Amino acid sequence: MTMTDLRNIGVIGAGTMGNGIAQTCALAGFPVVLQDLSDAALDRARKTMEGSLARLVKKATLTEAQAADTLARITMTTTLDLMADRDIVIEAIVEKLEVKAAILGKLDAICRADAVLASNTSSISLTQLAAASAHPGRVIGMHFFNPVPVMQLVEIIRALQTTDAVAEAVTALTHAIGKTPRVSKDSYGFIVNRLLAPQINEAINCVYEGLATPEDIDSMMKLGANHPMGPLALGDLIGLDVVLNIMETLYDGFDDPKYRPSPLLKQMVSAGYLGRKAGKGFAEYPAA
Ligand code: 3HC
Repeated sequence: MTMTDLRNIGVIGAGTMGNGIAQTCALAGFPVVLQDLSDAALDRARKTMEGSLARLVKKATLTEAQAADTLARITMTTTLDLMADRDIVIEAIVEKLEVKAAILGKLDAICRADAVLASNTSSISLTQLAAASAHPGRVIGMHFFNPVPVMQLVEIIRALQTTDAVAEAVTALTHAIGKTPRVSKDSYGFIVNRLLAPQINEAINCVYEGLATPEDIDSMMKLGANHPMGPLALGDLIGLDVVLNIMETLYDGFDDPKYRPSPLLKQMVSAGYLGRKAGKGFAEYPAA
């Protein structure tokens, strides 16, 4: 399989990650089918992509016509039927193994047998996911980072079953959509989240222990470690439920207390203070 085999792209899930992935692929010239369950979800995705492309137009990186062409390359749909002719389908749905496994089963029935099935999971074992497909060799992780249009890396995670041809084709596709691929073997949290989530968790423990305000903790990491944003703002950006998911995966997977989720992180999630998407996390985010 070569990169030219991966031309028609499907994206399942039009949320924060899914619409960013669709936009990135379409901007690079690839035809995309973007699926979500409701028209409302697709409308929200379209607005987000319009806003993101408008930023590029404002900076003169893109012309208005190129922005319009990018959106025109994205077909929106509420069913999975249009995935039938896709060379690769990237799923970016809820982080639940049984839900993702169910989608893989459906795609097995709809997609061509040689289509690649990629998952943007941030914390689920690719090997387990691949086992849910009738063709496990074609399952692979394509882990994008938030905000997708801006972040350069795509972490490519090989399940134990992933074939070399699929890994090579997905690596080539990642270059072709203007991102930088780096390959990791399947393990809990892969590489980036294994390093990043414990730092966010530890920052939350600092708040829990009353050591400093969230604002001061964030500004310390910006001013003292040159991070573009502090760990609590980053937790709010990626979603505190997502951070908790990753910490639980690390804690259970490695069976190591050093990954124990902060009690305050659990409380924030229980309270629905999930960060930007909820309007409130460690900071408040008034609706735009
Ligand atoms: N679409 C298009 N462009 C965007 C954008 C979007 N959604 N968001 C930001 N940008 C562009 C801006 O236009 C700007 O471009 P320019 O420099 O060419 O003018 C540039 O990105 C910087 O944006 P801003 O000036 O608005 O704001 P900042 O300079 O504060 O940067 C940030 C914002 C890029 C988010 C930066 O703070 C950052 O890099 N933060 C760290 C993000 C990070 O670590 N992400 C990884 C999270 S982990 C993850 O996602 C994995 C998952 O599994 C949990």
